Amino acid sequence: MFYLVAVCGALLGVYALLQLTVFKMPRCKSSAKLHGKTVVVTGSNTGIGKATAMNLAKRGARVILACRDKQRAEAAVNDIKKESGNNEVLYMQLDLASLRSVRSFAENFLKAEPRLDILINNAGLAMRGKTEDGFGMIFGVNHLGHFLLTVLLLDRLKECAPSRVVTVSSCAHVMGKVDFDCINTHKDLGLGGSTIRLLKLYSHSKVCNILFTHELAKKLEGTNVTCFSLHPGIIKTEIGRHSNLWWKIILAPFVLLSSDVESGAQTVLHCALQEGIEPLSGRYFSKCAVADVSAVARDDATAKKLWEVSERLCGLA
Ligand SMILES: NC(=O)c1ccc[n+]([C@@H]2O[C@H](COP(=O)([O-])OP(=O)(O)OC[C@H]3O[C@@H](n4cnc5c(N)ncnc54)[C@H](OP(=O)(O)O)[C@@H]3O)[C@@H](O)[C@H]2O)c1
Ligand SMILES: *[C@@H]1O[C@H](CO)[C@@H](O)[C@H](O)[C@H]1NC(C)=O
Repeated sequence: MFYLVAVCGALLGVYALLQLTVFKMPRCKSSAKLHGKTVVVTGSNTGIGKATAMNLAKRGARVILACRDKQRAEAAVNDIKKESGNNEVLYMQLDLASLRSVRSFAENFLKAEPRLDILINNAGLAMRGKTEDGFGMIFGVNHLGHFLLTVLLLDRLKECAPSRVVTVSSCAHVMGKVDFDCINTHKDLGLGGSTIRLLKLYSHSKVCNILFTHELAKKLEGTNVTCFSLHPGIIKTEIGRHSNLWWKIILAPFVLLSSDVESGAQTVLHCALQEGIEPLSGRYFSKCAVADVSAVARDDATAKKLWEVSERLCGLA
């Protein structure tokens, strides 16, 4: 009995220590107010995106929730309006698993909204299946949909400079690479299958988020539009909702150590708001500070090639 208590005590101690060190989440220090500014957050009906949208609404921004499900999005709009006291919060339909939907979102947005100050590419998933255009769901939603969305909104961002593009990646990128053979020959970049395969496809897509940001920064030099990618932390959200038992087992230790969504929004907010980080455009952040990425994720040639391939896949080139 004594040993059991001692072991439990020790485990709790280790847990507390980890929470206070490795998993401690710094807060975004910017006190920026956003009255008169417009922000778009993709996938903001739940999770990190919703917490981010809530914070931006509290700062006075006009916040557009770009989400795929009307009911879930409108429920989030109501929550955010109520808690923030800001009435300029609205839903606009965007399904990143359809390039047609991305185009029609951009069209509607550009017609209706004169400003875009901050674009937050947050939506993400790890599930099997294909997008409407026949790409693998994970590549299609996490990377390609956001690629097209950003490109279509760039002129408006430039008109509103200084403005920012923030793309939520993940520390899982360290396991990823860009499989151009697969992109070129199969179009679909793999459709999933085993749990391990899905995890791989997820990390590939998160490398794409970083490479996209890397290349975008180059294209935006001299425009006062800056861009950043980031790891939000290990956060308790709905991201595992499509997962099977194996995923749940793999993810269990992470769930135990995960932080709340407000913590998960902090590095997103830092990248969106922090004054003075503009010279770091193109870089990747973690814990509200610039961080290193894997060798693949900072390779100039791969970034350039991914941009060109993405343009082609979206029918832009
Ligand atoms: N949670 C973590 O520990 C963690 C760690 C590293 C990185 N991230 C990244 O953080 C971001 C946010 O994830 P989360 O953890 O907050 O997950 P979440 O709770 O599952 O939220 C993901 C959001 O993305 C939306 N989404 C999915 N597919 C979409 C599509 N086709 N079109 C438009 N929106 C779509 C979801 O909408 P529905 O509700 O309609 O499905 C939801 O609003 C993701 O990019 C994820 O990769 C999370
Ligand atoms: C960028 O911002 C600086 C400093 O505010 C300004 O001097 C410059 O004209 C801006 N450049 C563009 C292209 O808007």
